[in-house]
Amino acid sequence: MIIAVDGPVAAGKGTLARRIASHFGLKYLDTGALYRAVGLYMIRNNQDPADQEAAVTAARHVGEIDPTDPALRDEKTGSAASVVAANQGVRAALLDYQRNIAKSPEGAVLDGRDIGTVVCPDADVKLFVTASAEVRADRRFQELKGKGQNVTYEEILEDLKVRDARDSGRKSAPLVKADDAHLLDTTKLDIEAALEKAVEIIGNQTS
Ligand code: CDP
Repeated sequence: MIIAVDGPVAAGKGTLARRIASHFGLKYLDTGALYRAVGLYMIRNNQDPADQEAAVTAARHVGEIDPTDPALRDEKTGSAASVVAANQGVRAALLDYQRNIAKSPEGAVLDGRDIGTVVCPDADVKLFVTASAEVRADRRFQELKGKGQNVTYEEILEDLKVRDARDSGRKSAPLVKADDAHLLDTTKLDIEAALEKAVEIIGNQTS
């Protein structure tokens, strides 16, 4: 079973996808972490994420970034990730790795922006998770504040809107709901309620 979970910045995809994976005993891949690793590698090497050639080279070095590095979740890493993610060469370099995880014998849940449209267009279930910009900004603000980062809600909201526009407007694998994806609006749902809905959708689709 392959489950694709896509959606905009801070929609709660990661937490939800991780919970779905543990509920059904599937592997989990946070594909955003790959783009974040490329962005972080470039920041650390004083490179401009918009430098196309350097970004493709950086994509071949993602393995050098420790997946537990807390800097991966920084807001500036997210912004750099969104810049490198518009680069077709970077996307191509990361594609095989994502598809290999998706083919795991036990099945997998992948979350990102283009899982249902490009990485796994034949996924058994596709969820498009979203929420209002204000609710998403508040969730990200609470997450970063909880980690002791010095950020304001206004900065986060502004950054989220810029990133959503870049992710949706790019030519290569833009953020878009697949025609056969189920829309899951979590504006008024906490994680338990969102999980319950997701499990119901998955159950209906796969029974
Ligand atoms: O957690 P958050 O919603 O902030 O973002 P993320 O899932 O960690 O992804 C960071 C950035 O990587 C996004 O803004 C996208 O530009 C990019 N991304 C992508 O283009 N395709 C994916 N499958 C996953 C992430």
